[in-house]
Amino acid sequence: MRSAVYPGSFDPLTNGHMDIIRRATRLFDRVIVAVLENEGKAPLFSVAERMELIRRCTRDLPTIEVQSFTGLLVDFMRASGCRVVVRGVRAISDYEFELQMALMNRELSPDSETIFLMAAVEYTYVSSRLVKEVFGLGGDVARLVPAPVLEKLKARLPVTAGV
Ligand code: PNS
Repeated sequence: MRSAVYPGSFDPLTNGHMDIIRRATRLFDRVIVAVLENEGKAPLFSVAERMELIRRCTRDLPTIEVQSFTGLLVDFMRASGCRVVVRGVRAISDYEFELQMALMNRELSPDSETIFLMAAVEYTYVSSRLVKEVFGLGGDVARLVPAPVLEKLKARLPVTAGV
């Protein structure tokens, strides 16, 4: 069985993430979406909330599992029996950091491989950080995030300008 891990912060899940998740399900029999528990980043949504949102948005994808992890990704992968990391690349600017992470993970776990999937062109500018910023300033992000994420943003973030 071909398994892969798609790790990230997912704070919150965007349509760009969803695009990568769907592409990954076509390549692997089992894809674990692994949410990093990193309190240092002062996330908008708790890990439990992020996992719940991902679960709701991937209900139609039976080969997706949603889990959380702390510590090193390679340790989580070993424990999960996965050797492949999937990461989405939107632009050349993503590449340098992604290359560093991929090579560091290979250093730590020589058996691991990172596979980069190109995000769909319409999502190349979408990031969780910008979604939060734009929504918080009253901008319309309805086309950039799945509906359950939009609902959750409305419930959580005060809109400080615009609308
Ligand atoms: O969505 P993000 O924030 O770009 O995801 C980054 C993530 C979670 C993939 C990365 O920070 C990570 O793997 N963190 C776990 C700690 C780790 O293994 N670090 C060494 C590898 S570079």
